[in-house]
Amino acid sequence: MKAATLYESSVSSFKKVFNNPNPEQIEEIKKILKPLFKHIVENTILLHDLLSITEHDFSTYVHSVNVGIMATSLAINFSKSYEYIEMDELERQCYGFFLHDIGKAKVPIEILRKEGALNDEEWTIMKKHPEWGYTILMETGHLTDEAAYISMQHHERPDGTGYPFGLSDIHPCARICTIADIFDALELMKKEISTEFDNCLINTFITMLGPKNSPAYIEH
Ligand SMILES: [Fe+2]
Ligand SMILES: [Fe+2]
Repeated sequence: MKAATLYESSVSSFKKVFNNPNPEQIEEIKKILKPLFKHIVENTILLHDLLSITEHDFSTYVHSVNVGIMATSLAINFSKSYEYIEMDELERQCYGFFLHDIGKAKVPIEILRKEGALNDEEWTIMKKHPEWGYTILMETGHLTDEAAYISMQHHERPDGTGYPFGLSDIHPCARICTIADIFDALELMKKEISTEFDNCLINTFITMLGPKNSPAYIEH
């Protein structure tokens, strides 16, 4: 119950922030995220509940909350297993993850909701959302170092094929965000698949890409 309430109130306040990304709305988001962050850190059962109720649709606010939850959990678990991260830093990362796509508030809704592929002109606009996100966070006084890296670099790729700058040196917290971002898109793709056969194909595909076949696994 508690998990569902937290999830729903986060999604509905993200609706407001995407319609009007002003300093007060972002402050409001942080107020809601503060207890959510504490619950994710302290209570793994709640995290499991949160992940089981995440919805998948094309709206940027549902996506923001899903990526926020998954990336925060990933950062916490990574910190436990590999590289210790201070709690304050994790909290700043958490706000950055939830707000990673805030720049999409400036992308016209027809482009965000368009079914099928974007044309070149639309794609050029879409690719501006990392910089627009950075600007919104700066103008509203919410630009921490972590939020800056996450908003600017979550579409950069280590091989230099990403955007907006084609960087190869990408901050770790932006990489964490990218993993959660890709996962949410994959889950959405699964929802869009209508036949049992397609579902089998995609599950096979996910398994094929799983840890057993990854170079990291072979090396260990
Ligand atoms: Fe994005
Ligand atoms: Fe995203």
